[in-house]
Amino acid sequence: MSLYARLKPKGVNGFGYGSTAEEVTAGLSLAGKTLLITGCNSGLGLETARVLSLRGGRIFGTARSAEKATTALAPLGGSSLGFACELSQPSSVRGCVKAVHSALEGKKIDAVICNAGIMALPKREEAFGVELQLFTNHIGHFLLVNGLLDDLADEGRVVMLSSSAHSMAPKVGIEFDNLSGQRDYAAWKAYGQSKIANLLFAKELARRLEGTKKTVNAVHPGVIQTNLSRHMNPVAQFFFGFGEHLVLKNVGQGAATQCYVAVHPGAATVSGRYFADCNVAEPRKEGSDAATAKKLWEASEEIVARLP
Ligand SMILES: NC(=O)c1ccc[n+]([C@@H]2O[C@H](COP(=O)([O-])OP(=O)(O)OC[C@H]3O[C@@H](n4cnc5c(N)ncnc54)[C@H](OP(=O)(O)O)[C@@H]3O)[C@@H](O)[C@H]2O)c1
Repeated sequence: MSLYARLKPKGVNGFGYGSTAEEVTAGLSLAGKTLLITGCNSGLGLETARVLSLRGGRIFGTARSAEKATTALAPLGGSSLGFACELSQPSSVRGCVKAVHSALEGKKIDAVICNAGIMALPKREEAFGVELQLFTNHIGHFLLVNGLLDDLADEGRVVMLSSSAHSMAPKVGIEFDNLSGQRDYAAWKAYGQSKIANLLFAKELARRLEGTKKTVNAVHPGVIQTNLSRHMNPVAQFFFGFGEHLVLKNVGQGAATQCYVAVHPGAATVSGRYFADCNVAEPRKEGSDAATAKKLWEASEEIVARLP
């Protein structure tokens, strides 16, 4: 555990920066629950799958290929299932929705944890006319979650992996006139935009689900050394690794907030909020702007409507 994690005080619910996924789920039984996690083969997704399975949950894990997901989940044993879900390929996401629906055999999903993501691509790339980080992190999950909404349990929870890096998004939050990033691509700005999109998606879906017991929230997991940093330059990666001992979270601590929001009774009635260190936090103001959230939803629907 890093020095900072040892020193930082806990939040009002007794959990905080140093809490691990095992700690925030201690004593909970997830027997009979099905929890879907995207990006289950690496980093925070892998740890989330391990810990929620340890508590008795049935894990539906997705990865870019079914083989990758199945291999990652194999050590969990039990009834966990792996699915292909390449988020930048609409046909793969739609195939995942169908496969999950049929594997449920009439049962419901108790939590969908939209964890998969890419960060800070050095050169601009795009999918279907949309900058690739925005497409993968936001549009891919938009398609997945909307496809699975009818399969979500009455008290089901949706958890979006955002990031404190949402503060690096453009000034306006989302540049609706530059969704391809062609005008002035910058790696971190584009990542920030995709992560503020995760926040805004949670906000708008929570609004749409008002009056139900379903919840939707976004989380910042902390800063953790995982494969996510693969596109960072080697010098930055070195300092990142060094920082693990001083200030960063380890993977167990990094998976804590998403596990808390997905299954802890303390988060059962909270919706449309942003969590960090297992507690409600305040995002940048554009990250909770209802009008921008609605506009992003409509823009996403338009994008999805023209996908093959
Ligand atoms: N680590 C941090 O410090 C940090 C901080 C803030 C927020 N986050 C967020 O936390 C989440 C998990 O990140 P992590 O740190 O665990 O990173 P990671 O170890 O790189 O895991 C990311 C996962 O996303 C998957 N993925 C990437 N592109 C995909 C695509 N096109 N289709 C399907 N799956 C795809 C990866 O699959 P492959 O292995 O096949 O590439 C991997 O399973 C991300 O959303 C990230 O933005 C992380």
